[in-house]
Amino acid sequence: MSALTARVRGRSIITRLALRDSLLERRMLRRLEQVETRLLECAREADDPRLAEIVGHLIGAGGKRLRPLLTLLGAEFGDLRTAGVVEAAVVSELIHTASLHHDDVMDEGLVRHGVTSVNARWGNIVAVRSGNWLLAKAAQLSAGLTSAAIPLQAEASERLVRGQIRELVGPDLPEERLSHYYGVISDKSASLISLSLRLGAVQAGAPARVGEALAEYGEHLGVAFQISDDLLDITSPSAELGKEQGKDLAVGVAGLPVLLVLDDVRSEDGELRALLSDPGGLRGERHLRALALLQRSDAMGRARTLMDGRLARARATLAALPSGPPRRVLDALCDFVATRTA
Ligand code: FPP
Ligand code: MG
Repeated sequence: MSALTARVRGRSIITRLALRDSLLERRMLRRLEQVETRLLECAREADDPRLAEIVGHLIGAGGKRLRPLLTLLGAEFGDLRTAGVVEAAVVSELIHTASLHHDDVMDEGLVRHGVTSVNARWGNIVAVRSGNWLLAKAAQLSAGLTSAAIPLQAEASERLVRGQIRELVGPDLPEERLSHYYGVISDKSASLISLSLRLGAVQAGAPARVGEALAEYGEHLGVAFQISDDLLDITSPSAELGKEQGKDLAVGVAGLPVLLVLDDVRSEDGELRALLSDPGGLRGERHLRALALLQRSDAMGRARTLMDGRLARARATLAALPSGPPRRVLDALCDFVATRTA
């Protein structure tokens, strides 16, 4: 087994899904390996050694590769011989990596995928510009895909940026906090998960109604995925996350459990509410105390129930898809989101 094959196998979600279909599993792994090679090639195509190093930094550090996996799964509902499916999967991951360059600037993230973040290593301006380059590269590759892919890719990129800006601006009124939160995470997170699935289907020529059902499933899965991210930010140690634990709390970004505490005016946990009401974020002892109180609060269970509700909606959408191994994988992905630890 080559080093690349071992690396793709070792970290891909696909090996944890118990596919019970070795043909599908082999095809997915082979294609994920091609995605990996192509991603590294894209960084080298920067045609400037410094830029190539910077844009190759997070790509080389790896990650779950969830979005390219979704694109490859979307393509399973079309003609498997269609060209450009791997390239479409690369587009999904390039957009995601671009968004991480930008997100770590905004959240002052120091660690990403277990390595120093781009902003921490090269500074904020370089991280934003190199993120822009990655987004431009994704657009360049999209131009080589089927023409229907281009507006989809453009729409998802627009929603990503809009979601992040709405998060920055915040809700107009405190009572709009929850609806604002769902709007933000749909745009900043679910949009790309939904696009990734649909892009594969469109590229492989799947029927339009299949692409639409996949997009709808992706919206629900994406919202659930972001809620699970909020939960992990509170519960999972940094070594497992590959990024800092409690970062949202530190920079004053309110995830779902925090919003549920703030919204529960009858809550007896006045100390936690007081800590979380500080808009400037929490550092040192106050950060540790808030994390410990949150971990014990019933808001965690309530957030989990809301996440499970979204996963149930994602599963319900699958009924509109032809049955078979790819649909089973999408169902198993809901279990993955519910139980992930990183
Ligand atoms: C992680 O969120 C980040 C995202 C889901 C995407 C953020 C989108 C942007 C920064 C818009 C700019 C995008 C482009 C393509 C120009 P998080 O901070 O909740 O999760 P984390 O814990 O992984 O950092
Ligand atoms: Mg972040």
